[in-house]
Amino acid sequence: MTDDRIATVRLGATGPEVGVQGLGCMGMSFAYGPSDAGESRATLERALELGVTLYDTADAYGAGENERFLSPFFKAHRDEVVIATKFALTIDPDDPTKRIIRNDTPYIRQCIEASLKRLDVDAIDLYYMHRRDVNVPIEETVGVMADLVREGKVKHLGLSEVTADELRAAQTVHPIAAVQSEWSLFSRDIEAKVVPAARELDVALVPYSPLGRGFLTGSFAKAEDLTSDDFRRQQPRFTGDNAAANAALLEPIRTVAEAHGATLGQIALAWVQQQAALHGLPVIPIPGTRKPTRVEENLGATRIVLGEKDMELLEPIAAKVAGDRYADMRFASAGRE
Ligand SMILES: NC(=O)c1ccc[n+]([C@@H]2O[C@H](COP(=O)([O-])OP(=O)(O)OC[C@H]3O[C@@H](n4cnc5c(N)ncnc54)[C@H](OP(=O)(O)O)[C@@H]3O)[C@@H](O)[C@H]2O)c1
Repeated sequence: MTDDRIATVRLGATGPEVGVQGLGCMGMSFAYGPSDAGESRATLERALELGVTLYDTADAYGAGENERFLSPFFKAHRDEVVIATKFALTIDPDDPTKRIIRNDTPYIRQCIEASLKRLDVDAIDLYYMHRRDVNVPIEETVGVMADLVREGKVKHLGLSEVTADELRAAQTVHPIAAVQSEWSLFSRDIEAKVVPAARELDVALVPYSPLGRGFLTGSFAKAEDLTSDDFRRQQPRFTGDNAAANAALLEPIRTVAEAHGATLGQIALAWVQQQAALHGLPVIPIPGTRKPTRVEENLGATRIVLGEKDMELLEPIAAKVAGDRYADMRFASAGRE
């Protein structure tokens, strides 16, 4: 334990106490090009040392590979970590643009057993529905998830990329601890309906891709900078004219970063963190990284407080972003509400 440990916050009315910043583990096995397993393991350990307790994975990340990779770390630190994983999405390894979404009972039953086995734990701390299958009533899906809680296989429930109405319907069946959705200086659509609903229902917000999938750090400027298997090559914001237009939007972030002696990524994370006070709900961003030094940098953002002038400079960015956050916006709550 060191003095550098980050503060903690409750994950919604019913959830566990967690560090105010979590760690996205997806990139360690999937989506963002080649990884070094040793470096990823060192990243997990450094994050834990600095007070990160919420670790985010999903069965879809590398078709189970990410859960398997994380298992030894989770087992070594079982009482210190909050394991969050997800079901509902299958990504075709031969065609990563192809996605199958299922929310039905037999499928959930199959997914939970497979995740418990891969993670090699008795229970998952936070189990999310990753994507919404509109062919299944959400009350039915959450009903099965609630059964998993009663059976001791899952401790808390979460939903990813749900609309405000879907969240309200779900909450009538079982308390929802957290909604995980994209939220960053580049992606603010959830502020219209989802965030107010979460606040009203005492549900925490877990922003994913708070660094705009890395773009907000300035570490890449266009799809061509990425390896050929990188998922971001499919995303409308990083291709063609959109990428150039969006890169120009980093200027105000640079200005604020210089004023604070901080990096662009730290300002992006500080902005997300500050939404907690602005919207009146717990916000626990889960930036993804595979590098210990970046964990240190990202956690440094929890000590930055942006002033009114900073917030004014950053405010107009999202409205100017070119391109949707997904090629198919039905995957996102904004595509359905
Ligand atoms: N629910 C959902 O549908 C959903 C969707 C996407 C993601 N997620 C979850 O959210 C997590 C975070 O989202 P994300 O990984 O998509 O995006 P992100 O956190 O916005 O950005 C991650 C990218 O930024 C880079 N990065 C991180 N810190 C950096 C720093 N200080 N300086 C420069 N570059 C830095 C990472 O590279 P390195 O790894 O090389 O450091 C990685 O390429 C994922 O790991 C996953 O667990 C959930």
